[in-house]
Amino acid sequence: MTTATVTRVTGTLAEARPLREAGLYELVRVGARGLLGEIIRFKDEIATLQIYEDTTGLAVGAPVIATGAPLTVTLGPGLLGAMLDGVGRPLARLAAASGDFIAPGASAPTLDPARRWAFTATAALGAAVRGGDVLGTVEEQPGFVHRVLVPPGVEGALAALASGDYTVDEPIGRLADGTALTLAQRWPLRRPRPVAERLPADRPVVTGQRVFDLLFPLAEGGAVAVPGGFGTGKTVIEHGLARHADADVVVFVGCGERGNEIAEVVQEFPRLIDPKNGRPVMERTVLVVNTSNMPVVAREASVYLGVTIAEYYRDQGYRVAVMVDSLSRWAEALRDIAARLQEMPGEEGYPTHLASRLGQLYERAGRATAAGAPTRTGAVSLVCAVSPPGGDFSEPVTQASLRVAGGMWALDASLARKRQFPAVDWALSYSLYTDATAAWFADAAGLDWAAVRTRVLALLQRDAELREIAGLLGHEALQDRDRVVIDVARMLHEHLLGQSAYDPIDAACPVAKTGRMAALAVAALDAALAAVERGATIDELELPALRRAYVALRAAPPDAIAARAADVERAIAALEVRR
Ligand SMILES: Nc1ncnc2c1ncn2[C@@H]1O[C@H](COP(=O)(O)OP(=O)(O)O)[C@@H](O)[C@H]1O
Ligand SMILES: [Mg+2]
Repeated sequence: MTTATVTRVTGTLAEARPLREAGLYELVRVGARGLLGEIIRFKDEIATLQIYEDTTGLAVGAPVIATGAPLTVTLGPGLLGAMLDGVGRPLARLAAASGDFIAPGASAPTLDPARRWAFTATAALGAAVRGGDVLGTVEEQPGFVHRVLVPPGVEGALAALASGDYTVDEPIGRLADGTALTLAQRWPLRRPRPVAERLPADRPVVTGQRVFDLLFPLAEGGAVAVPGGFGTGKTVIEHGLARHADADVVVFVGCGERGNEIAEVVQEFPRLIDPKNGRPVMERTVLVVNTSNMPVVAREASVYLGVTIAEYYRDQGYRVAVMVDSLSRWAEALRDIAARLQEMPGEEGYPTHLASRLGQLYERAGRATAAGAPTRTGAVSLVCAVSPPGGDFSEPVTQASLRVAGGMWALDASLARKRQFPAVDWALSYSLYTDATAAWFADAAGLDWAAVRTRVLALLQRDAELREIAGLLGHEALQDRDRVVIDVARMLHEHLLGQSAYDPIDAACPVAKTGRMAALAVAALDAALAAVERGATIDELELPALRRAYVALRAAPPDAIAARAADVERAIAALEVRR
C-alpha cells in the first residue's frame, strides 16, 4: 500500500503525488471518505485518478491510498438475482446501510458475507487441481447449479475439501501449499478470463423475434450492435431479450439513457416472469446499473464488470447473454475522461482509442471450452444498443461498433413512427452468423431455413423496387403480378417481421412457428403468382382471406399453431384454384 496526496481536483478526476510504485488501473481510495478510484495515467510520479464517486468537498492535500490491486469484482454464488452498481456494490444492501442514496466511499461487498451456501464437494482429495477445475457445486437459485471453480492461475494438490454450509469467505478446503479455497474468487474486471480454447459459432441464441431469428440471427458467442435513434425501440428489444432469449444467464448493463430509465429497470426486472418456467427472470439475471448519483465515469467500468460476470458463468459451462443499454453512454464516459485528460481528441471529441477499446470489449464475446476439468463449453453473447445522436449512423460510436460487431440490427425512426415494431431496417441490417446458424435453425424448424430466408429477402427486395416504381410512375404502372408481390410483402412486413412486445403470445415466437410463417408467406406468393400467370386478376384472388388466416396464425398460441397453419395452407390452395 502506497500513500500520496491530492495535488489537484477537476470534477471526478484528481492528480496525486508521489505515486511511484503504483500501477496503471490500480485501485485507489481518495480523501478522508475513501472515495473509490483508479489510476488512469502516469506522468513521472504524478498519477491521474479517475474517481467513481461524488467528489464534492475533495480538496488538495487529501490523502490517497493506492491499494496495490486493480479494480476487481468478487465472483461467486449470490450474483444471480443481484443488482449492482457500476463498480460492483449491491444496491439493496448499500441502500439498507446508508439510506436511499449510496454514501460516497461506502463499501459493501458484492456478495452477501453473512449468507451461507450448501456446498457439495465433487473434486477428489489428493488430486492435482488447476485453474478452472470444478471443486464442487452450490444450488445458487432453485434448479441452478453454480460450479465452484479453482481460480485461474491457482494450482496444486488438493489437501482438504469438505461439503458443508459456508459463507463466500470461509475456506471450503485448501491446497497442499496452504492456499485457501473459498466459494468466491476475485478477478480484475478489465482483463478477459482465460479459456482452454475458443470455439467457432455453431448455433444461435434464439431471440424469439422473428425478424432476428429468420433474417439476422445472433450466434451463441456472437456480438451484435443495435443502433437506433431515440424512441426506435432499443430498450424494448434489450428487455425482451433479457426475458425471452434462450440463455442460461442474462447480464443486463444499464447505462442510463434517460433520467428515469434506470429506476424503471430496477423496478421492472424483479417483476418479470420467465414464460418458459414461470419463475422470476431475476433468478437467472444479474443487473448492473449506473445510478444517477454516481459520476459518468463509473459507466466506463460498469460494462467491464458486466462482461467479467458473464465470463465467470461461461467458465462454469453456461450460455450467457449480455445486454448493454446503451454503449453510447459508455463511449461518452470515455470522451469525458479523454477531454479532462486533455488528450488529443479524435472524431467528434471521442478519444482516438475509442475503436480499439470497443474492439477489446466485443472480443470478450465468444464461445469457448472452459479451462479445467471436467470439460465444459460456455458462451458469452453480446447485444449492445447504440444511440447515435439524431439517429445519424455515420457518427463514431456506431461506425466503430460496426467494425467489430458480427451483426447489426439497425433501427429505423420512420418505421418506429409508423408503429412498425421491431423497427428493423432490413436493408441496412446484417448478420455474419447466418451460415453458422442455418443448420441449427433448419433442424429446429424442420425446413430449409437458408432457402426460406433467401426467398423472404428477395421478396422484400422486389417489393422495395416495385414501390419505388409505383412512387415514380403511379400505382397504375404496376401489373397484377407486381401488385401480388406488394400485397404479400405487406403481409410479411406487418405480420412476419412485425411483432408486438406487449402481446403475451406474440412477444416471443418459437423457432418452428417463425419458420412455418416464413415458409407459408413464400408459398402464398408462389401460389398467387401462379394464379396470375394462369390468367387470374388480383381481384379474383382471395388475398384478404389469406391475410385473415395469416393473422390468426400469428396470434395462435402453441397448441393452436398446427391448426392455424393448416387454415393458411387451405387459403393458399384456394388461391391456386381461383380463375
Ligand atoms: N417491439 C415493440 N412492440 C411494441 N411497441 C414497441 C416495440 N418496440 C418499441 N415499442 C414502442 O416504442 C417506444 C420506445 O421504445 P424504446 O425501446 O424505449 O426506445 P429507445 O430505447 O430506442 O429510445 C416504446 O415505449 C414502445 O411504445
Ligand atoms: Mg432506450
